[in-house]
Amino acid sequence: MIRIGLLGLGTVGQGVFEIVNERFLKTSNKEPIIITKVLVRDKSKKRSLQISDDLITENFDDIVNDKDIDIVVSVMGGMEPELTYIKRSLKAGKHVVTANKEIISRHIVDLLDLAKNNKVSLMFEAAVGGGIPIISSIIQILKTNKINRIQGILNGTTNYILTKITREKRQFDDVLKEAQKIGFAEADPTADIDGYDIMRKICILSSIAFKTVIDENNVHMRGIGNVTYEDIENAGKHGYIIKYLAQGLLHDDNKYSVSVTPILIKKASVISNVNEENNIILIQGDIIGEMCFIGKGAGKNATANAVVSDVLQVAAGINDYALLRFDSNALSCGIDGIQNEYYIRVSTENFDQFAKSIDIVYESVKKLKLSYSKGKIFFITEKIASSEMKNLYTKLTQCAHDVFYARMENNLM
Ligand code: NAP
Ligand code: HSE
Repeated sequence: MIRIGLLGLGTVGQGVFEIVNERFLKTSNKEPIIITKVLVRDKSKKRSLQISDDLITENFDDIVNDKDIDIVVSVMGGMEPELTYIKRSLKAGKHVVTANKEIISRHIVDLLDLAKNNKVSLMFEAAVGGGIPIISSIIQILKTNKINRIQGILNGTTNYILTKITREKRQFDDVLKEAQKIGFAEADPTADIDGYDIMRKICILSSIAFKTVIDENNVHMRGIGNVTYEDIENAGKHGYIIKYLAQGLLHDDNKYSVSVTPILIKKASVISNVNEENNIILIQGDIIGEMCFIGKGAGKNATANAVVSDVLQVAAGINDYALLRFDSNALSCGIDGIQNEYYIRVSTENFDQFAKSIDIVYESVKKLKLSYSKGKIFFITEKIASSEMKNLYTKLTQCAHDVFYARMENNLM
């Protein structure tokens, strides 16, 4: 019998509880798995699943001090107290399975070391890509390949929002509320909208793939909070769709560039056609070439499935995460030198802002396409460096009401 202490009974925790009880509690051909304690913040809260009161506790000590618990499944969210609970569980000789990307992105090495020193496993498949088994796949690919590129849609909430605005012309805030209700969004959804969630996920994947710890401060990150239907409509007129892309590149000189930005991507590309809460992850290995993984990136069942898969690995005594290494010493070179065409929308409130914005763009970019409608100016630039685009954006935001920009990607799968 494998005994689990479950930390958190929200969207993911409930999914784990249901899968374990329905598929692994009473089983004749496998070792049964039982959830013996569940930690929540508020015991009195009404819950949509049937659970005995005796199982629930508000005191973590009831789990960490329970010698019979083998695995702690940690699906609470945020940094503290979950980080402390994970560390205490590992130190107490319990295996840990978590879906917390914030903790893993910042503490991947120290937690894996702590697990190793205490002869237990730490697994976190559910932290990236929801139900897509991406971390175990990267571990397999790395056995023979050097990985030099990871790209993808890694946030279900924002992909859901972009899909609904594009297809149904719905309002941003209205779709966000729906994504929160379904359980895709983080407890604080600004983590999804401003890019922190996707940044943490690309840090985890790039750290593993490039064998170096990616510092979150070295990620170029922009949110999608001010994208409008007009941006999507304009992109469409030029044959593009707006998506929110995470990218990690390892260059030949062992320097890396990691970014999280909105992009315009050709309608016919594979990425353009990954919609709603689905994620896509493209991986370039030097032997295997480009590989593509698509699946549900958020939500109760997909995420809980990834958590339970990790539990089964632990139960079977398999710990591929022990193969992870972070000693390549690759350094960040940022993205300043990377050249792209850009789509820019400048919203102005009067003629002065309108005229100044056009002057500013023409001062910086020689060749561009321009159109305008109701005080909004839409530009498509020639190829310019990312650093030039950043300067241009700073100048435009000082003079106009609202500015959105996104690089244009023509060569992605
Ligand atoms: P959630 O619905 O907000 O649930 C959080 C659960 O943790 C709740 O049961 C809450 O207790 C409990 N909790 C929170 N803080 C606590 C504390 N200080 N002490 C005790 N219990 C506490 O969150 P979720 O969506 O399931 O996400 C959980 C984790 O999985 C997060 O790290 C998230 O980033 C990650 N994740 C989520 C998804 C997804 O699609 N939702 C996908 C992948 C990864 P109460 O019920 O009493 O409030
Ligand atoms: N809030 C996250 C998302 C949950 O929308 O992708 C899955 O990690």
